[in-house]
Amino acid sequence: MKIFIDSADQREIQRWLGEGIIDGVTTNPSIMLKDGVYDIEAGAKRLCRLVGDRPCSIEVTTNDRKQMLEQARVFARWGSNIIVKIPVVNECGDSCLSVINTLTSEGVAVNATAILSFNQALLATKAGATYVSIFAGRVADEGNDSSQVIRNVRRWIEDWGYASEIIVGSVRGVIDVQNAALAGAHIVTIPPQFLPKMIDHKYTRETVAQFVRDAEKALKEIEEVRLRA
Ligand code: E4P
Repeated sequence: MKIFIDSADQREIQRWLGEGIIDGVTTNPSIMLKDGVYDIEAGAKRLCRLVGDRPCSIEVTTNDRKQMLEQARVFARWGSNIIVKIPVVNECGDSCLSVINTLTSEGVAVNATAILSFNQALLATKAGATYVSIFAGRVADEGNDSSQVIRNVRRWIEDWGYASEIIVGSVRGVIDVQNAALAGAHIVTIPPQFLPKMIDHKYTRETVAQFVRDAEKALKEIEEVRLRA
């Protein structure tokens, strides 16, 4: 399973790239705003350079499907690793599958985003999306079981031999990462604040402290034996 970082914060991305666990980056306009990226082009180009050849998702900022196409074509020129995020429907509920399909046929990699149901994922996959982003937290907001959606989509993708990969986003806590991983996500995109919580553990710290204490005692005893000899 791959891990993407759901962030536009360069320092955080750099930090976790250094830990060797980041396979890509996802952003959306809210993340860009939160992380102080006001110039999407400059910000996207910076992120693309930062992550090398790893995929970097940048979302269109319009409701209009014709403009989505135009924006996506421009975004795609910003870096060879750009993935354009297209919502499966716009805010009026108009299908954006034709946008996904057109871009895919032009060779632009698409991350079909804001997916909240099995059927949306199915249709986005059929339309050719490289990635289908299931928003686990928002699925749960609606009282639905995101693990079940992820599991079903994964099984369906495998059964029918599609190449689309499931990105699980909208992670609201570390348990969401575990649930998504076990349900069959190909990728989980994790906001950076959860990564320290995933690695740290109070009892691991105590265990390491015990080993370090005992190693120090052992070294002291070895030294005393050496001096007595
Ligand atoms: C990632 O691709 C999504 O845009 C992001 O995880 C959405 O998260 P949210 O539901 O917390 O806004």
